Amino acid sequence: MANVIPESVKRDIKDRVSIKDLVEDYVRLQKDGQYYKGLCPFHKEKTPSFKIHEERGFFKCFGCGEYGDVFSFLMKVEGMSFPEALERLASRAGVELPKRELSEEEKKAEADKRTLFEVNLAAADFFHRNLLESREAEAARQYLRKRKIGDETIARFKLGYSLPGWSANLDYLARKGATIDSMRSAGLVIIGDSGKPYDRFRGRIMFPIMDAQAGVRSFGGRLVTDEKDQPKYLNGPETEIYKKGSGFFGVYQSKAGIRKKNRVIVVEGYFDQIALDQAGVGCAAATLGTAMTEEHARALRRLTRNVFMVFDSDEAGKKASARSLPILLEAGLSPRMVLIPEGKDPADYLENHDARDFERLLDASPGLLDYYIEDVLGKAAGVKSDEAEAVRMAAEMIGKVQDRIERGIYVDSLARKSGVDARALQKRVRRPEPRTALEDEDSKEVGGIGGSGAYPPAEFELAINLMHHPNLAIAVKESGVIEHMANEGLKAFVKSIFEDSAGGGEADPVEHLEKISDRGLVQRLSGAILESDPYENAPEKALNDSIGMILHESLTENIKKIKREMERASKEGNEILWRELAGRYKELEAERSANGFSGEFK
Ligand code: UTP
Ligand code: MN
Repeated sequence: MANVIPESVKRDIKDRVSIKDLVEDYVRLQKDGQYYKGLCPFHKEKTPSFKIHEERGFFKCFGCGEYGDVFSFLMKVEGMSFPEALERLASRAGVELPKRELSEEEKKAEADKRTLFEVNLAAADFFHRNLLESREAEAARQYLRKRKIGDETIARFKLGYSLPGWSANLDYLARKGATIDSMRSAGLVIIGDSGKPYDRFRGRIMFPIMDAQAGVRSFGGRLVTDEKDQPKYLNGPETEIYKKGSGFFGVYQSKAGIRKKNRVIVVEGYFDQIALDQAGVGCAAATLGTAMTEEHARALRRLTRNVFMVFDSDEAGKKASARSLPILLEAGLSPRMVLIPEGKDPADYLENHDARDFERLLDASPGLLDYYIEDVLGKAAGVKSDEAEAVRMAAEMIGKVQDRIERGIYVDSLARKSGVDARALQKRVRRPEPRTALEDEDSKEVGGIGGSGAYPPAEFELAINLMHHPNLAIAVKESGVIEHMANEGLKAFVKSIFEDSAGGGEADPVEHLEKISDRGLVQRLSGAILESDPYENAPEKALNDSIGMILHESLTENIKKIKREMERASKEGNEILWRELAGRYKELEAERSANGFSGEFK
């Protein structure tokens, strides 16, 4: 399937899209020598084992073993198919894709999700135009003005308006060629009891929910004038491309800020998100009123460790903060709790305050765990039995803090506050001590850098050398060494490099790796791709040595075999066979002593 797209196009995209920039949409990266490293987005970990080699356009996690290029990264992290990832990256790179013929099978497999993105995008554009232009949207425009949402913000978030009536959106999308079924799958259309389809969103201000790559995955719609029998916000259902409790609203707009300022402000609502953006505070991510999930917490943790949680200061907000706290702590985060004065939410607050005011609130924000402890102890104060229960609750929460030193500080502080002996508390909060990096879910190093492991060293070295110097492939191929290679996986890898060079193509390690079925070997080789080229100075000499060694080993193996057969022949008294074998034996011996590959390397 990938072959339908010329290799040159793939390469062009790879050359233009920085893997570091792409990954940074999801993971906070630090420079580490010639690499960038960060927390792996594909498995749970607390110490970074995910590495990137920028020039080689390659990533690899030494914790879980995932590896690949910009395409595989996007496919994994966004759950995309190859054509989807290709399309996204092409548009990111400004590369035009050749129109390609799809097979029926492909069409079926790909069409669904792709169609959903397309239908959603068309709907978002339609809603947006309605908001800007249609007469019916006058009240919506007024409402947004009243809430001080400016035109630029409306454009930046592509806010929209769904027309009242029952089928404006449906009719529009149908004219654009979308099927009712695709609209229903996208969550835009509901099929009534009578079988008649109608628009889910009617007369609402529309918020497109985009992923980090600006793909529209779902929508939320707000009433313009509050009506009693209708929910204030209507949300799209879960679909093939939208799962609740995984993403955030507004990350596409705030990802650059989160990276730059190294912090994220988690808010609940659509308006909070866009108000922070508009005020220039930025860095926000909205959970859309759903409870914080582990997936949310891990996504945050990969972006930054500086998490500010904003909750409503009413009772419901307090409950929500208490519910999200253990999840955040277990993810290794020490969130802070931003208290907005007068029981307002960020959007309300920013209607009359500016970024500087909000920054002051951030600076003054206490730790969420500190806040929680104060809150439970404060409520219980005065009644001994309640106090005991409060201390237990506080201790249990402290037990979820991942960092041992931080945990110790909290225990001491709780002991002082409650008058309960620190050692007694310590027992309550004790958790299995992580053994250094082994605290991670599965951080047994896979494919550690360097070394050939159980693989024939010369064959391994040949493969690595060729990977770095594919221009030497033709000469190596002519040496005929591949016939002498013992390891099937390394043989397949080298053969793939040969095929590439024969076609004049440049080596693409990711594709060569796909030819190998031995997972262990794939891990070793993918680890080696991140290493610096060990043969940088004299690749030809090293190749010569490897080839010589491989021939030597292979001949030695054959000689041993013949010797065994000769022994058997002499035992059986088969003199004719013995003589034949002896001749062959001599030849091989001669070949072995003459060995020393000295082909031409250009
Ligand atoms: P809030 O009730 O706090 O609303 O819900 P809000 O964000 O302040 O909304 P405005 O300012 O009145 O417009 C917080 C979030 O919870 C979800 C929405 O995502 C909302 O932004 N929510 C709320 C719903 O999904 N449905 C609802 O009926 C209400
Ligand atoms: Mn609000």
